[in-house]
Amino acid sequence: MDLFAFRTAGKVVVGRGALVQAGPEAASLGKGRALVVTDGTMVDLGLVQKLVQNLQANGVEADVFADVEPEPSLKTAIKCAARLQGKGYDLVVGLGGGSCLDVAKAGAAAMEDPQGLPRYLGTNKVPGRKIGLFLIPTTAGTGTEVTPNAIVLDTDKQEKQGIVSPYLYADVSLVDPELTLSKSASVTAATGMDAMTHAIEAFVSRNASPMTDLLALEAVRLIGGSLRKAVADGSDVEAREQVMMGSMLAGMAFANAGLGAVHAIAMALGGFGVTHGRANALMLPYVMRFNRESSPAKFARLAPALGLEVQGLSDDEAGKKAVDAVAVLGKDVGCPQTLKDVGIGPDRFDLLVKKSFDQQRLLANNPRPAGMAELEQICRSALG
Ligand SMILES: [Fe+2]
Repeated sequence: MDLFAFRTAGKVVVGRGALVQAGPEAASLGKGRALVVTDGTMVDLGLVQKLVQNLQANGVEADVFADVEPEPSLKTAIKCAARLQGKGYDLVVGLGGGSCLDVAKAGAAAMEDPQGLPRYLGTNKVPGRKIGLFLIPTTAGTGTEVTPNAIVLDTDKQEKQGIVSPYLYADVSLVDPELTLSKSASVTAATGMDAMTHAIEAFVSRNASPMTDLLALEAVRLIGGSLRKAVADGSDVEAREQVMMGSMLAGMAFANAGLGAVHAIAMALGGFGVTHGRANALMLPYVMRFNRESSPAKFARLAPALGLEVQGLSDDEAGKKAVDAVAVLGKDVGCPQTLKDVGIGPDRFDLLVKKSFDQQRLLANNPRPAGMAELEQICRSALG
């Protein structure tokens, strides 16, 4: 067995109603002043008020920064860091979808030098973190509550970039499936397919380990088994729970194993305004088809995790069946199937390939080498 290491969040509190543990957890760590980083929707839903009351009831003072937009910009992260700078906060609490959590993480990383935040883009550039970090996801998809990544959009370059640092692992993450009940079918579908992509890319990654394989396969099983139900009936808390658990496990897997070409292309599509989950859902089957020959035995193992009958099939046949099932899942939950579906035509094709190629951090983990020619081949197959 190759040497491997594994990291995750300091503590995860998982289950229906976990939100009410925010105050006691903060108090037990001796945190007295918190800034809740969130968005207007969370305020409107009353979740921010509920959280703030819970914090206050446990002796933790809380202010609110509710300026996070979807697919958040570098500027918003800088603004958040500036809100934290010199105000005596000892805890930042991210509440919301991946956008809110990523801004909370980036803000925490840069609170001593907000304008210097661009320097932290990349891997291992953050010098440290002097504030507690709590994360409370309200979507089941990004897995950011258990990863060292914060993704922001550089609006000047129209490019999504990541801050990746072990200092961005949360001290505590509260994973409460009831918080996802208000999500629409389309958000549930897109975020769920993002989580499925995390699981599959981590599983076939060059940096996969026995630990990440275990987590990734279970995530594939949970998401594959329940995403249709969660999308068809948003009040099905059982299905919501399974998908959210799958999303967290997938996050733990990819935080350590890394992601691959699906995410490289999705990051490029993000610069064109295609939301992250939809971009991944769309590209996942095409990249799987390209990657399958690199490790037929591994792709074959995805089939039983997806609930498929594989008796008597060769690895090649089982792997093919798994890819087809993932494509059908994406279609069944209403995600886009081709680049044409998301408004990307031949006019932006070359730029898409180039921007995808720029994501070398991700492409390095892809099980089959993917240079410009290969990315072009994959994207061409997805044009529609
Ligand atoms: Fe993702």
